[in-house]
Amino acid sequence: MEQQKKVLFSGIQPTGIITIGNYIGALRNWVKLQDECECIYCVVDMHSITAEQVPAQLRKNTLELLALYIACGIDPKKCTLFVQSHVPAHAQLTWTLNTITYVGELSRMTQFKDKSRRHRENINMGLMDYPVLMAADILLYQTDIVPVGADQKQHLELARGLAQRFNSRYNPTFKVPEPYIPRQGARIMSLQNPLVKMSKSDENPNSFVSLTDTPDDIARKFKRAVTDSGSEIRASEDKPGITNLLNIYCAFSDKSLGQAERELEGASYAQFKDMVAQAVIEKLQPIQRRLKELLADKAFLEQVMREGAERAGTIANRTLSKVYRKIGFYG
Ligand code: TYM
Repeated sequence: MEQQKKVLFSGIQPTGIITIGNYIGALRNWVKLQDECECIYCVVDMHSITAEQVPAQLRKNTLELLALYIACGIDPKKCTLFVQSHVPAHAQLTWTLNTITYVGELSRMTQFKDKSRRHRENINMGLMDYPVLMAADILLYQTDIVPVGADQKQHLELARGLAQRFNSRYNPTFKVPEPYIPRQGARIMSLQNPLVKMSKSDENPNSFVSLTDTPDDIARKFKRAVTDSGSEIRASEDKPGITNLLNIYCAFSDKSLGQAERELEGASYAQFKDMVAQAVIEKLQPIQRRLKELLADKAFLEQVMREGAERAGTIANRTLSKVYRKIGFYG
């Protein structure tokens, strides 16, 4: 008998800029796992509105991110691709999970503390509830594996904790998901300060490379990347800048760290930066071409998202009705 494939769920926020950090930490692995797992990939627009969005822009970004998933190599015939707000069960399960989540555990979340510090003018309830919505996303699909970058580890732990709490308070309902965090590249750092995470919300655009940057932009950003003292190209704790560039280089040229270090022996920092830029440009160019083609076919993208929402909705509603029954909702 054929063994059942593991269920995999993940998502990215449609906030406009998708960085090579998102690609290395998440998207790249999504593509790799699509054959061995039952994959569900979501454009998490409901998470995006925890920060203020321009409505027309959000709508555009949502379609573009779905197209980007496909352009990066995700096959809509093999995977379920959908938009979070198209499946109301995400909001419905969030409400239910809210009632077994403690305010204390949400206020201790690193990302919440971090975002509230940076956006004092907009510390909204949604921002605080963000990890519960994320838990609902994952638990609705009886997910086995969640491929994410290292920054999402704490949120994943909450999702596991809520699944266990619900299961023990009622009876086994949710599968307890496992994180899939790549050993290398789980935290790509800023090109301007290798001690902080590369982030699309960084005010300095030279600190990140977007998947839609032009070759000239990419070359310039790597040229300006901050490196370390010394001249040797190897990964080590006292060389955070070079280590970060090596992680990017390995991910984009499909080489192991050892291979890359041997290849780069004797190269100067300037030559190395140029090679990183070339590897990134080479990989991104076909993705950008495909993205452009896809964006010209809005009908196809809308069909993918409609079919995806239908498939996702069926699975999600099955879990939601189980939950509603367990908690005693009259049905
Ligand atoms: P988002 O959009 O902020 O990030 C999307 C994915 O990119 C990873 N990532 C990185 N990986 C390595 N280095 C970086 N510098 C870097 N920056 C971002 C993130 O870890 C993430 O995997 N909350 C999620 C979205 C989400 C989700 C979910 C994920 C909502 N529901 C359910 C998994 C399952 C987030 O961080 O989005």
